[in-house]
Amino acid sequence: MAINPQEFMSTLEKRVCLTAEDKVLLQSEIDWGKDIAPEMAEHFYAYLGRDEEMNSMLNATEGRIHRLRETFIEWFYEMFTGMDDWGKDYADRRWNIGLVHVRIGIGPQHVVPAMATVIREAGQRAKTDGKSEEIKEALGRICMIDLAFIEQAYVEVSSEAVLRETGWTEGLFRRLIATGANSM
Ligand code: HEM
Repeated sequence: MAINPQEFMSTLEKRVCLTAEDKVLLQSEIDWGKDIAPEMAEHFYAYLGRDEEMNSMLNATEGRIHRLRETFIEWFYEMFTGMDDWGKDYADRRWNIGLVHVRIGIGPQHVVPAMATVIREAGQRAKTDGKSEEIKEALGRICMIDLAFIEQAYVEVSSEAVLRETGWTEGLFRRLIATGANSM
């Protein structure tokens, strides 16, 4: 494993400013989170289904879409429970979700707009249900952390694969990337 998920989680909490108050707020809305999770899954898969490329990924194997709906509902709910108070289990689970997406070739161009959809739909539902701005913001912050895990998994897996295949050192790899970026 290229990163320590728990350390990465702590770094992200600081960078995203997910506070202890945010966590209390999210946990105080666990029932609401559970309630709206199926509707969020519907919006999410309807959104992915409207994109030709993502739709074909969704339906590439038998039963995938059905499985995904279930795992999405769980994922959404876990943002409110924090699983083990946003500890090791939470971080390992988020890292693993990242790895699953890397394995099937889902990259930043797919995941970032998809997460924006989750935030938009949850925000609209929060407004309809008369929820506070604070809960919307807390949810936005935890979504950003979850997104960063998927994105980081992509970077870590890609660089690990290159290093393993070529035997290059990390220093050389970074220099090559910098040179490549300069020449673009
Ligand atoms: C907000 C971003 C996303 C979240 C939170 C999310 C959530 C999840 C979760 C929780 C899983 C199950 C992981 C596991 O098996 O342990 C999963 C798997 C998967 N996701 Fe996503 N996903 C996101 C974006 C996308 C996008 C953009 C696509 C594009 C089509 C996608 C397609 C898939 C596929 C194909 C699987 C594997 C299903 C299987 O065969 O078991 N996801 N996702």
